[in-house]
Amino acid sequence: MEDFDSISSEFANANYQTKHYVRLPLFRSILPSNCASLLELGCGSGYFCREAADLGARIIGVDSSMELIRIAQDEEQCNPRGIRYCLGDARSLRLNERVDCVASVYVLNHMATQEELLAMCKTAAFHSNYFCSIVPNPSYRFQSECQYERSVTQKDNGPLQDGSVLQCEIKEDGKSSFRIEYYYWSKSTLERVMKDAGFREVFWIPPLVSKEGMQRFGADYWKPYLENPSCMGVIARA
Ligand SMILES: C[S@@+](CC[C@H](N)C(=O)[O-])C[C@H]1O[C@@H](n2cnc3c(N)ncnc32)[C@H](O)[C@@H]1O
Repeated sequence: MEDFDSISSEFANANYQTKHYVRLPLFRSILPSNCASLLELGCGSGYFCREAADLGARIIGVDSSMELIRIAQDEEQCNPRGIRYCLGDARSLRLNERVDCVASVYVLNHMATQEELLAMCKTAAFHSNYFCSIVPNPSYRFQSECQYERSVTQKDNGPLQDGSVLQCEIKEDGKSSFRIEYYYWSKSTLERVMKDAGFREVFWIPPLVSKEGMQRFGADYWKPYLENPSCMGVIARA
């Protein structure tokens, strides 16, 4: 498992464009309507928990990185929204409550094996009939050049297949870069494990760029991104 404790401050302070202008609107669009309670698996420093809390939901954020949970809790103390953060493992968590929605953003790709993927999806199914995620786009054509503040390459030279290790370098202007490693999972494997975990239907939702992002950078800037988006939304329903 990637050690997020060692890159916690770089990760928590990352401010890349696609986070605000692509992932955030995609996150909003995959939440169920009237979402009053949400559990985020792998909440990191709480960026998406805060967003969901601002939309009016009761939030629990769980992450396996003690450092990231500490950063999220510090933020909660400074600007309270009533979010509960706990240290926990998305593969085995069993809380004593159900929620309207379980969400995860870029966490399924940190599951190292299909057994781990299935375990995380079972955790989602245990807590809700609705599981929405943002994952790396399984059909993404990798860019070794830094584009939209990131480059993605395959670590080994073999064929790209389930479980292949990918390296993502994140580089924002004026900041030193940092790397995250994760695993490639195909669309069919993700769909199958979600169904094996008990979800009946799986839908894929392509990302859009928010109005703010379009106004700030213009349509020409985003065109290559929208032709080859690095992320995808996925909704699983029981
Ligand atoms: C790429 S980060 C995404 C964080 C957050 N969702 C966001 O988008 O800002 C992946 C997160 O998943 C967490 N994670 C990885 N494996 C986990 C596991 N088994 N249980 C809980 N969290 C896990 C990491 O600690 C990290 O915070």
